[in-house]
Amino acid sequence: MPLVAVRADEEAVAAFAAERITTLVEQAIAAHGTALVCLTGGRTPQRVYELLADRRRPWRMRTEWERVHLFWGDERHVPPDHPDSNFGMASRALVGRVPIPAAQVHRVRAERPDATAAARDYDAALGRSFAAAGRAGTTFDVMLLGLGEDAHIASIFPGSGLLTGELGDPDQRVAAVWAARQGAWRITLTPRALLDARAIVMIVAGAAKADAVRAALDLSDEVTRWPAQLLRAADDRVEWIMDAAAAARRPAAPRA
Ligand code: 6PG
Repeated sequence: MPLVAVRADEEAVAAFAAERITTLVEQAIAAHGTALVCLTGGRTPQRVYELLADRRRPWRMRTEWERVHLFWGDERHVPPDHPDSNFGMASRALVGRVPIPAAQVHRVRAERPDATAAARDYDAALGRSFAAAGRAGTTFDVMLLGLGEDAHIASIFPGSGLLTGELGDPDQRVAAVWAARQGAWRITLTPRALLDARAIVMIVAGAAKADAVRAALDLSDEVTRWPAQLLRAADDRVEWIMDAAAAARRPAAPRA
């Protein structure tokens, strides 16, 4: 069963997520000498990243940034200086504020005109980066994910060919997908790459996500409709950190 932590509001979610991420990074460094962390995009994680970088909070100083490698679980098909760029958001909130070596920040080259080429590049770069960090395979230590209102994770949207098996070969870790609702290409880790992580942290806030949370955690299996149900395969490697508003549609926990 996944761990589900409910906090009062979005700020409390961000603080608890910062604590959990820092602890998971410390554990990865203790076990492997490095921590391979895959960041998520969107709006929700921005506060988490700001707290991780904040000199007035405990987490920045606890983290051995020279041993951390950062990756992205998905990216919009835009240049890094575009307002929609997930890398751009993380750069402003985190990367530019902590002493992580530039060579350990592995962004998607999403400025490439061909999204499929950008995905192929990133897939190859993952293998090289993991080898450089002394790791075999591409198992992330920490995978951060958000949740869309339609229960998408990364850029794996309802009906995606990555869910129906029409897209991507079994060995593919990164794919280019057309996000119809957004009317744009995305580059995303595949379900296999996401689910392989040692620890997956879902960070969710707001009433608009309540139906998606309930679908992901409580409704019967219909993964093509509710992509976050993919996480059921990762079971106790998943922890959900959400606010009361996002948890509002869940069945009341059985009374002890
Ligand atoms: C992205 C994210 C995406 C995000 C959800 C939730 O590129 O947008 O990877 O999967 O996590 O859409 O986004 P918000 O946090 O903005 O609600």
